Amino acid sequence: MSIVEDHDLGGNSISFLEVDGCRYPIVDPEIVKNMSQLKVKADDILLLAYPKSGTHWLWEITSMLLQGKAQTIPHWKGSVMVELQPQEVIDAFPRSPRVLNTHIRYNQLPVQAREKKCRIIFVLRNPKDVAVSFFNHHRSFKCYYGNYNGTLGGHLPFFLSGKTDYGSWFEYVLEWEKDIEAQQDRHQIHVVYYEDLKENLLKEIRKLAVFLGLPADDSLYGAVAEKCSFENMKFDKKPYDPKVDDQLFVYRKGQVGDWQKWLTPEQNEMFDELYQEKMKDSTFKDKIRFTLT
Ligand code: A3P
Repeated sequence: MSIVEDHDLGGNSISFLEVDGCRYPIVDPEIVKNMSQLKVKADDILLLAYPKSGTHWLWEITSMLLQGKAQTIPHWKGSVMVELQPQEVIDAFPRSPRVLNTHIRYNQLPVQAREKKCRIIFVLRNPKDVAVSFFNHHRSFKCYYGNYNGTLGGHLPFFLSGKTDYGSWFEYVLEWEKDIEAQQDRHQIHVVYYEDLKENLLKEIRKLAVFLGLPADDSLYGAVAEKCSFENMKFDKKPYDPKVDDQLFVYRKGQVGDWQKWLTPEQNEMFDELYQEKMKDSTFKDKIRFTLT
């Protein structure tokens, strides 16, 4: 358990917390060490995603559906993040059911979450947009990564080789794919794709509400969709989400295909080749909107 300093391919320094060979943002190591022992409730929902896949968005939508009102949740999703908060903070969260959220793998989840068969929402996003979003995240959140000042050219190979916090996107997705398959009899699991939300938010909210066992209510769903638009969340969450220099960095662009403005043709080709190779046996492969056409 230590803080490790690494360097991207451009030689720029970036630091992480490392616990049992896994990298995390620089958070409290005691919480990471003890997260498997976190006590959870049977009705807690587990929201799982690789970083930058839309976790804040899904947390807000799910929490609004559960409260039955299209009203901004006056909390940050980080208040109930498994690897960030101690038991007492999670226990003090004043809402129920809670939408616990995390970027860890199945075998790292709190043991009780597995025993109590908590319901799981799993979010996926095109990894090219994840890569660009994560690059900007690493540059913005100095408190979690030291003073990282790299460029995308140096960061992309670092990301693709799995050296960032939470490791390789490919390993994360492939491992979860196996675990989702293996745990289907145990947990109810709902998979959501960021691009589907962008394409038809109302339809995805309806599907999510069915998964959550909520009574059909189209006027609520419409109001939640409106309240959870990128622009509205960027404004409404300002009092609750973390800011750097008075900016909410999480709500950066909120677009599908922003990677096109960042990746060179060579970087794009390298990404395509790696994706085809790593994901060749994946059943997610055809569902993740990897290309824009
Ligand atoms: P970008 O950096 O591409 O803008 P996470 O919550 O997992 O950290 O993911 C953050 C990404 O989700 C950011 O992507 C952010 O803009 C996007 N996001 C957050 N809220 C959103 C919303 N309401 N609509 C669309 N995208 C949203």
